[in-house]
Amino acid sequence: MAKLKMFMYKVFKWGLSVIGLTVSITGITGEVSVNLGSPLTESEISRVSITIFPNGHNLPKGQGSVKEGEKLYVELCSACHGESGTEGPSNRLTGSIGLFSFMDPLRIMRIQEVNGLLVMSTGQQWPYATSIFDFVRRAMPHYKPKSLTNNETYSLTAYILYLNDLVNKDAVIDRKNLPGVEMPAFKRYVRAWKNKSAADDFIPRP
Ligand code: HEC
Repeated sequence: MAKLKMFMYKVFKWGLSVIGLTVSITGITGEVSVNLGSPLTESEISRVSITIFPNGHNLPKGQGSVKEGEKLYVELCSACHGESGTEGPSNRLTGSIGLFSFMDPLRIMRIQEVNGLLVMSTGQQWPYATSIFDFVRRAMPHYKPKSLTNNETYSLTAYILYLNDLVNKDAVIDRKNLPGVEMPAFKRYVRAWKNKSAADDFIPRP
């Protein structure tokens, strides 16, 4: 019992001296350093801070046309996504409205309508057009992510939207009109936040 008391006393004493030490360091320097390295510079942060929010926040300057996008698509994307964005082998970019319930009486007809492939496509699954820009710029082409310029990304986004009949063949996409492109999937998603524009919930705090 005496031993235990002694032990408790030592723990208490150590605790006090750790607090004392922390307080005295704080007293001298004004802040406690935990030695995590040096702060990132603005340019280091801007290289990784590339998230585009659903409402278009953070979209860069620049623009791209469907026509330009088509050329880039043939050159950089069609090998994996297919000539018309449906053949694969990688994900479908247009077409299929996805998996259907076995209870759906029109299932057979719908499968025929989408060429037999039971997979979702970007155009039918994604609720925000702005996310296509974000994803393509950060992840595509698969073998060389982050290699596309902003203008190239706008063009490819425009072309994917065109493949989905969401913009016309002469469309030019930029930071102003991209957030206004309404995706068919938007209404299929359940909003977690009622009484507000879903996009507004994603505006980052300053
Ligand atoms: C080497 C093969 C390859 C090339 C080339 C390629 N992709 Fe992809 N792409 C993929 C794969 C694999 C995925 C799925 C990645 C995942 O889910 O993480 C994908 C996914 C995508 C998606 C999301 C599909 C979805 O709905 O989930 C888009 C959009 C896309 N690619 C666009 C492009 C564009 C635009 C280009 C040309 C600049 C391109 N890809 C070039 C392989 C490729």
